Amino acid sequence: MQPDHSYTPMTPAEVGELRDTLDQQGKKLVFTNGCFDLLHAGHVRYLNQARALGDAMVVALNSDASVRELKGPTRPINRERDRAEVMAALRAVDAVVVFGDKRATALIEAIRPHVYAKGGDYTADSLNPEERAALDKVGAEIKILSLVAGRSTTKTIERMTATGDQPKHLRLGVLGSGEGSNLRAIVDAISHETLEAEIVIAISDQSDSRFLKLAKAEGIPTQHVQGGANPRRFDNAGQQAIAEHLQQAEVDVVVLIGFMRILKEPVLSLYADRLVNVHPSLLPKFKGANAVQMALDEGELETGCTVHLVTPEIDAGRILAQAKVPILVGDSAEILHQRIKQAEHKLLPQVLAEWKRI
Ligand code: GRF
Repeated sequence: MQPDHSYTPMTPAEVGELRDTLDQQGKKLVFTNGCFDLLHAGHVRYLNQARALGDAMVVALNSDASVRELKGPTRPINRERDRAEVMAALRAVDAVVVFGDKRATALIEAIRPHVYAKGGDYTADSLNPEERAALDKVGAEIKILSLVAGRSTTKTIERMTATGDQPKHLRLGVLGSGEGSNLRAIVDAISHETLEAEIVIAISDQSDSRFLKLAKAEGIPTQHVQGGANPRRFDNAGQQAIAEHLQQAEVDVVVLIGFMRILKEPVLSLYADRLVNVHPSLLPKFKGANAVQMALDEGELETGCTVHLVTPEIDAGRILAQAKVPILVGDSAEILHQRIKQAEHKLLPQVLAEWKRI
C-alpha cells in the first residue's frame, strides 16, 4: 500500500499555541485566508509577500462547502484535503487550518494573529465589518497587499477550457545582447495581459548580459550561442544553432531586441515576415549601431524608434510602427537613448499584440 503523505490541518487551538510561543519570543504570526482552490503563481507571490510581514504564517482555507457558497456549485476545483496538503508544502506557509464559515471571524478570535494580510482591492475600511471588528479586538495589524496582475484562478480556468477555435497565444523567441529593458517591457505586457503571448525562448550571444539574466529570473528557457570573434557577425555554426533553437521551441515570431550580431540564413528565410527588430531612430534615417548619436550630430529636433521586419539589408525591412521622441537641449546620447527606450517599451508590445492583424 502507498504511504499516506497527506497533511492533517491544525486546529485553531494549536495555531493559538503557536501564536503564544512566537509572542513570547517577540515574533509575529501572520494570518491570511482564502479558497485557494487552484493554486497559481499569483497566489505564491502573494503568500511570500504576506509571510514577509512576520515570522511565521498560518493560512486559513475555506472548507469545500464554504467555497461552494462563495464561488458557486462548480467550485472548489481541488478538494479541501488536497488544498491543505499543497498549501502546507509551500515555503511561505507554516500552518494550515480549514474553516467552514464564510467568514474567518471566529478563527481570528481563536488564533489572535499579530498581522492580518489580505490581497486585492480592499482597504482596511472595506473589509467585512465582522472580521474587521474581530481583528480590532485581538489587536491585529491589517495589511492589504496588491494582487499580482495577470494571474488569477478565473483566467487559468478560461485557458484550461479554451477550445482550438480561440486565437492561440503567440510563441515569441527573443534575441538580445544588452540591457534587456525591452524584454522587461514584453514580460510586463504579458503579465498585465495587454499582450497575449508567451516567450518560449531567449537567446543571447553574451552569457553574462542583463538580458539573459532577466530571462532566467523570469523562468524563460534560455540559450547562450557563441558567435565567434567578430562582435557584429555570427559564424555559420552560430547562425545554424540559432535556427535550431528557434525551431525546437516552435517560435511563431522572432523579436530582436538589442541583438548586436547580424542574422543571416537560415534564420532569415525560416522566419521571413516573422522576424522583427526594434531600432532607436525613425528609419530610414540613421541606420546602424550609432543611430542615437547620429541624430544628435545632425542637429535633429526629434528622433524616435521603429519596429520593422528584418531582411538581408540592415535596418531596411518593412516598417511596422514608429514613435517620435523629441530631442531636448542638453541631451546626451545616453539620456536621449533612455527616452527612446521608454517609447520602445510601449511600441514593441503594442506591435506584438496586434501581430495577427499585421
Ligand atoms: C534598444 O534601444 C533597441 O532599439 C536597440 O537596442 C536597444 C536594446 O535595449 N536595437 P534593451 O537591451 O532592450 O534595454
